[in-house]
Amino acid sequence: MTVAICPGSFDPPTNGHLNIIERGTQIFDRLIVAVAVNASKAPVFSADDRVAILREIFANKPNVTIDAFEGLMVEYARQHNVHVILRGIRNLSDYEYESQLALANKAMSPGLETIFLMAEGRYAHISSSIIKDVVRYSGKAAEMIHPIVEQRLREKLRS
Ligand code: COA
Repeated sequence: MTVAICPGSFDPPTNGHLNIIERGTQIFDRLIVAVAVNASKAPVFSADDRVAILREIFANKPNVTIDAFEGLMVEYARQHNVHVILRGIRNLSDYEYESQLALANKAMSPGLETIFLMAEGRYAHISSSIIKDVVRYSGKAAEMIHPIVEQRLREKLRS
C-alpha cells in the first residue's frame, strides 16, 4: 500500500490545498494530511480547529486521514513509517522554499522522498493570507475556499 503525508499549516486550508490533497488520493492508496502545530506562527485557527475543518471536508474520503503534529516533520514520518511527503508548488518562490525544505528533510532522513504536484493555474494566486484578507474585508471568496472554511473563517474573524 502506498502512503504519503501531505503536511502544511492549513491556516486555513485553501481550494489549492484541497486540490493537491484530492489529486494525491489518485496517486497514493492513503494520504495523511498532517497539520503543523507551528510554535513560531500565530495562526488564526488552533490546530484542533484546522483538524476539525479538514475532517469535515474529507469526511467522505476513507483514504484521507487528518492528524496534527508538533516538532519535525521527518520525526512524524518516521513514527508513522511513511517515506513520501507530498507538497504543492505554485510558482518560483514556492520552488525555492520547497527545495530548501525537501533538502533539509532529506539530509535528516535520507529515506524520505518529497513529491511535488504543480498547483493548477486557477489556484496559483491563492494563499491562506490572501483568503484571510478577502474574508476579513467581505470580498468574494467562494472560488478560493470550501464553504465550510468560509463559514468558520467568517465566524472567527467576526468574534
Ligand atoms: N495552493 C494554495 N496555497 C498554497 C498551496 C497550494 N497548493 N501550497 C501552499 N500554499 C500557501 C498557503 O496558503 C500558505 O499561504 P500563507 O503564506 O499566505 O499563509 C503558504 O503557501 C504555506 O502554507 P502551507 O502549505 O499551509 O504550509 P507551510 O508552508 O506553512 O508548511 C511545513 C510548512 C509545515 C510543511 C513545514 O514548516 C514543516 O514541515 N514544519 C515542521 C517542522 C519542520 O520539520 N521543519 C523543517 C525543518 S528543516
